[in-house]
Amino acid sequence: MPKVTYIEGKEPHELERRLIFRNIDRKGWNASLKKYVSEGGYESLEKSLRMEPGEVTQEVKESGLRGRGGAGFPTGVKWGFIPPGNKKPVYLICNCDESEPGTFKDRYIVHQDPHQLIEGMVISCFAVGAKLAYIYIREEFPEAAEIVEKAIKEAKKAGFLGKNICGTDFSCEFYVHRGAGAYICGEETGLIESLEGKRPYPRIKPPYFPAAMGLYMCPTIVNNVETLCHVKHIIEMGGKAYADIGTQRNTGTRILCVSGDVKKPGYYEIEVGKMTMGELLYDVCGGPLEGRTFKAVIPGGSSAKILRCSDTYNVSSPPGSDKREITFDDIPLDFDTMAACGSMAGSGGVIVMDDSRRMSWVLNNINEFYAHESCGQCTPCREGSTWMKKITDRLVEGKATPADLDTLESVAYQIDGRTICAFGEACSWPVEGMIDKFRDELVAETAKDDVAINRNPEQEAQRRYLKEARAPAGSSARI
Ligand SMILES: Cc1cc2nc3c(=O)[nH]c(=O)nc-3n(C[C@H](O)[C@H](O)[C@H](O)COP(=O)(O)O)c2cc1C
Ligand code: SF4
Repeated sequence: MPKVTYIEGKEPHELERRLIFRNIDRKGWNASLKKYVSEGGYESLEKSLRMEPGEVTQEVKESGLRGRGGAGFPTGVKWGFIPPGNKKPVYLICNCDESEPGTFKDRYIVHQDPHQLIEGMVISCFAVGAKLAYIYIREEFPEAAEIVEKAIKEAKKAGFLGKNICGTDFSCEFYVHRGAGAYICGEETGLIESLEGKRPYPRIKPPYFPAAMGLYMCPTIVNNVETLCHVKHIIEMGGKAYADIGTQRNTGTRILCVSGDVKKPGYYEIEVGKMTMGELLYDVCGGPLEGRTFKAVIPGGSSAKILRCSDTYNVSSPPGSDKREITFDDIPLDFDTMAACGSMAGSGGVIVMDDSRRMSWVLNNINEFYAHESCGQCTPCREGSTWMKKITDRLVEGKATPADLDTLESVAYQIDGRTICAFGEACSWPVEGMIDKFRDELVAETAKDDVAINRNPEQEAQRRYLKEARAPAGSSARI
């Protein structure tokens, strides 16, 4: 293997561990098949084709790989949901919608290393028995679509895709499908509807779990771009060796996309759970801008709940150990700890805010996005996301009252857990999190001559009830 060197100024940080992004920003690297094969590309595919499909799935299960698209659901377990004895065609869909604000990783894989994705996808198709796969690419990535089309043609010509792959009796075709540029097309069932040529209205789960009733009502596995790339490395090194990277239940590497108020925003690949928030923000990203201090971080894309940098968190760290009090800087970057801290690792989009940020503005910005992107199918989401935006419009204009904040909070809790798809949580969690952590700051921006001082006790009781009685997130099995 040649020594890997990177373009000046784009070298990985020494605390990074590059697996998926090994070839991103490399000197002398290009997206061609020739380059990819010259460094062992498609050898994992050949290895997998000498195995039984079930053995490939078993390796993925043993690796502990969890989806990198947002929910962190175990990939091998998802593959295992295809009904036993299924006689219908099985489809694989690569989710390259990358629509969660703050997330910018999948596009780099497709642009600079498309064969890594194709190899991971062919192996995955072999494992789940799919003869047809789609790469769903959002409308805003026209160049990515062209690059991946070209890579598909190259792979077919070389026998890594199409009929009798690598001389075996396994055949598989890939198609690129361009989305129309809506956030909801990233939600897997909305994506499937869109792929079927319809409006991307998400389907209700149950019964429409894609692995059982997906594209054309056939078993369908939907995985994120990064997730599918990991499959290639799992086969290369074996599931057990892969599971040694990262930490227990939070294995492998993952790409974090850091944006906002840090000296060095960008993408960084880390061993899951081995790096802390403080190491990421200070060592890797160079700390806050001159004269500023960190105020808050949204750790997993805009739909994740905000965390306050001055807080301490009572969590099991490392996971499985006794709970203890840790500072924000000491939070390990993994799925379970982030959930225990009251937020989520989500899609890996880490949005950083320093003490110059007005939280009313931040929340209004997020609310505007979600109000625009709701598909409109369910009333709480359609109406509620717009109401929340209207309330924070008033807040930033200095026209809101403290009672408006109570209304805002109650609207969020009436959406959360009460909708067809997890967009309901995606739009309500930012509001819930912000009010929970920054209520005083938001109240300070309201007009004080207000009724909240004499709150109606009945309304107050109802608000408390809604907050406490809401369905727990994930209650409708949002995977
Ligand atoms: C509103 C919404 C938007 C989503 N957008 C994306 C997206 O852009 N890309 C993605 O991979 N997953 C997205 N997801 C998650 C997908 O529904 C699905 O869980 C994921 O593609 C599964 O892949 P994984 O198991 O590899 O993570 C979104 C989910 C929701 C609720
Ligand atoms: S929760 Fe929102 S985005 Fe999801 S189906 Fe309902 S209206 Fe559409």
